[in-house]
Amino acid sequence: MCGIFGMLGGGSVGRTVEALRYLEYRGYDSAGIAASVNGKLRVYKSVGRIDRLQSVIPPDLDSDRTIGHTRWATHGAVSYDNAHPFVSSDNSFAVVHNGIIENYLALKKQLSLRGTVFTSQTDSETVAHVLQHHYKTDVLQAVIATANCLAGAYAIVISTTHDGNLYAIKDKSPLVVGLSDDGVYLCSDVRCVSRWASKVAVVPDKTVIAVSANGVEFYDYDGKRVTMQYFDAERSETETDTCGDFMLKEISEIPDRLRQVTSGYYADGGLGMPRELALQLRRIYMIGCGTAYNSGLHAASVARAFSDVDIIPVIASEYIYGHYPTDAGTLAILISQSGETADTIRAAEKVAAQGGITYAVTNTKSSSLCFKCRCVNYIYAGGEFAVASTKAYNCQLVTLLLILADIARLRGTLDSARHQRLLDSVKALPESAERALADSARIKRLALQIKDSSAVFYIGRVNDYSTACEGSLKLKEISYIHSEAYPAGELKHGTLALMERGVTVIAICTEPALKQKIAASVSEITARGARVITVAPFTIDGCDGIILPQCDASVGGVIAVIPLQLLAYYAAKALNRDVDKPRNLAKSVTVE
Ligand code: G6P
Repeated sequence: MCGIFGMLGGGSVGRTVEALRYLEYRGYDSAGIAASVNGKLRVYKSVGRIDRLQSVIPPDLDSDRTIGHTRWATHGAVSYDNAHPFVSSDNSFAVVHNGIIENYLALKKQLSLRGTVFTSQTDSETVAHVLQHHYKTDVLQAVIATANCLAGAYAIVISTTHDGNLYAIKDKSPLVVGLSDDGVYLCSDVRCVSRWASKVAVVPDKTVIAVSANGVEFYDYDGKRVTMQYFDAERSETETDTCGDFMLKEISEIPDRLRQVTSGYYADGGLGMPRELALQLRRIYMIGCGTAYNSGLHAASVARAFSDVDIIPVIASEYIYGHYPTDAGTLAILISQSGETADTIRAAEKVAAQGGITYAVTNTKSSSLCFKCRCVNYIYAGGEFAVASTKAYNCQLVTLLLILADIARLRGTLDSARHQRLLDSVKALPESAERALADSARIKRLALQIKDSSAVFYIGRVNDYSTACEGSLKLKEISYIHSEAYPAGELKHGTLALMERGVTVIAICTEPALKQKIAASVSEITARGARVITVAPFTIDGCDGIILPQCDASVGGVIAVIPLQLLAYYAAKALNRDVDKPRNLAKSVTVE
């Protein structure tokens, strides 16, 4: 959702391009840099990927002050003119922006009346002109005045010809500062700067930053100096760790990651919630977006079997604007791989404002969500770069099940024998995941058969319905085949009308007790000419099947989703799609 970067230090052009490659997962519609060279701002941009940007940057371009941007278009089409950085009319300010300036039309109108000519349709360009308007003799004062004019969510890095500094302003969009021997970094992603920085600070909302050769200063919007806490940067994996598609690499890591998620949970102190708090709960909301929401949907479905508290999955953007009772007896588990999804963060803020207990489940230490929530637990999935989330889903599921089981244990609705059985089932997961992955040749063959389907429907009952939702999301995200998920019993209440030749139905059934039910659905579908592939620990006569390893029902979804992830991957590859960077999407959606 746009990646921004800035560096003050030698070799900043190369570093910025390298950073933009890392940040490409946040948007890949266009990219650009602005380098300060001999007191002038030199801007290079291009539509498309970083490789194209690199081809337009002179190889000998050298600067010790560069800002850069990767774009996921919100305001204005994907075009050269709408690519960042934007410069003020007098070429004295260059800005890169992640977020949305909600009052940009009003600002644009005022500036236009004063004669400013705009060259793009973006909200971001406005910021460069507002800076020019406020500049008298002191850049910091102009930046603070600009910050006070902006409404919305934004992290903005600013370069200027008026002095040798970099500046930034931040409200509601992520921004971190990294310090290293080579220089100072400003960036929207903590993992990105952690590859070079030894110390990192996660910048709070409504902060202005000035980076000079003498160091970094932080200010509030009244211009008062504020102190910032730095912590040791944690090195993370880099994109060079793979030579193929990230998605396939990430799926193949699932067994190992499942080994780490449970040990990580206990090493961090387990649930991390006092018994009194668990006892006062009346309801639990599982809040997230996309794949993260689906993991909450699934964990809620499983945990209802042992919980006496209402567990309600809610899509984050629905929670923000809907009416969901929230009070001191409400626990909101906010699930986010990146920890930066704007909808999830806004939901966390609303829960906290209404007196509920916020609990983050995330893959990213020091992400914005961690700072918004009272309790935090990590999923130990390791860096995930493919836009379509895979291993994070499996690890989210396990973490959520451990959390919900621990709460039920504290409340006395899950006895120690059942709790132990669940833990034993979790321990067996890595091996089952390995067996599921071993079937990939067959899954690939089936993917070749479904790639030309006019539509694909995923069906399942209870826990398998949420697995169907995740399978369907994977397929549509990366193959662009139309797909939908339905509770299997609902098929006959409408969707059966769509069954015909050319349609494929993926029928998921992890519960052998429901075999007859799924067999009935299969007959209804095949009788109408559509094709069925079952995903179950058994086969059904007359249709293709992917055989799942036997698992306890409480954890079956962690494994059942693996063939669906592979099916989506191979179908997308067969259609020649860019599986890691599907059209129109971004991995981290930091605007509402
Ligand atoms: C985007 C991504 C999805 C992801 C969702 C939530 O839409 O494309 O793959 O599931 O955001 O992301 P989060 O980082 O909050 O888990």
